[in-house]
Amino acid sequence: MEDKEAKATGQLLQCIEVTTAETQAVKAWLKQQALLHDEYKVKKMNGNLVVLPLCNNCTLSQCQMLDLNKLCLSYRTVLIPMRSLQARKYKLDKISQPLHQSVADLYEKSTGIPLAANLAAQIPNHWIKHDDMIVLPANSFTAQEWLALGDELWHLVCSTLGAKRLAKNSAILNDNHRTPNVEMLLGDCSWVTHMDNGIKYTFDITKCMFSPGNITEKIRISNFDCSEEIIVDLYAGIGYFVLPYLIHAKAKFVHACEWNPHAVEALEKSLILNKVREKCTVYFGDNRQHAPKFIADRVNLGLLPTSRPGWHIACAALRPDRGGWLHVHGNVNTYKVVQSERKQFWQQWGEEVASELELILNQMHSDKSGWKATCKSVTHVKRYAPHIDHLIADVHCTV
Ligand SMILES: C[S@@+](CC[C@H](N)C(=O)[O-])C[C@H]1O[C@@H](n2cnc3c(N)ncnc32)[C@H](O)[C@@H]1O
Repeated sequence: MEDKEAKATGQLLQCIEVTTAETQAVKAWLKQQALLHDEYKVKKMNGNLVVLPLCNNCTLSQCQMLDLNKLCLSYRTVLIPMRSLQARKYKLDKISQPLHQSVADLYEKSTGIPLAANLAAQIPNHWIKHDDMIVLPANSFTAQEWLALGDELWHLVCSTLGAKRLAKNSAILNDNHRTPNVEMLLGDCSWVTHMDNGIKYTFDITKCMFSPGNITEKIRISNFDCSEEIIVDLYAGIGYFVLPYLIHAKAKFVHACEWNPHAVEALEKSLILNKVREKCTVYFGDNRQHAPKFIADRVNLGLLPTSRPGWHIACAALRPDRGGWLHVHGNVNTYKVVQSERKQFWQQWGEEVASELELILNQMHSDKSGWKATCKSVTHVKRYAPHIDHLIADVHCTV
């Protein structure tokens, strides 16, 4: 390993030390935050401890330290000699092979030196494609040595992968807006249009992110018949759920709340692009101040790890004369639950959510008691992290 950081730290690499039981959860979280060094394997230490190597140069923010503290009882940051860590062996597939070959050829032609293994490991094996733009993972081409190739490298990556624009990912910023950290490498315009389930989502990849993980919920919503319904989406983002409600579920009208100005700009453009602008009002700002009241047949609460901050607002948004549906998202920890009892545990979570909502509704409408909130079903959207399930409780509220 010849990069500057390795020399500066005397060939030591910063790692996170946790117990073996915590490894899976911490590893998934580090990957999600683009902090895990994927050139090296996790290393077993004495006792029941392991170390997870961190990317060169990375420092944990205050928020990240707090998140990590929630995932494990105690962790330590330690410096481990690089030579004691085992490097990963990469298996190239048919898609990444041409990229590796052409980059290695360019490197040798430009520098006169064959590409070293540590640099070859920084050529990506996967990427995301939106339109004519490729977004590379955070750990690709990080070494100083790549700078010698200049823009020729980015032109080569684009032409090999059949794109015109190139960008590179970094960790999502911990700022409550889910702001991505994306750098444009080639091309000026960072807006892309992503086609998903027959809907066009347009957004600036340096300002907003697209969540492919919610596709099952988007499809489920698309199968609803909301032709007679008014919907409130408290956490609209770039319109992940607003657009399926309007386009496939044929909602009569959607009120969309969102406080990230970049997401609002993207949502408004997508509403126009999909020709449904006149069927949606966008409320820019904190939904605690701006969400509409007493009009909804259905309220979507798509906030993780919990949508609890929106429960009162959602109850207030429901029609006071006949109630409606609340789709409550949440992450649930199933660490101690055996596989055979998982579904029952999910249902129990949904019922607890419904009882709390019933309490809120009855307190809110103290003049008219007798509100009932029933959990009709719980949907498992995805495994968010090991032992953490992203669930949605469909709660029917009646009066
Ligand atoms: C997890 S994203 C949800 C996007 C979409 N529903 C999904 O599941 O992919 C949450 C969105 O809610 C917005 N948000 C969070 N708290 C908010 C608040 N109090 N008022 C308005 N928007 C909020 C964030 O900016 C973000 O775009």
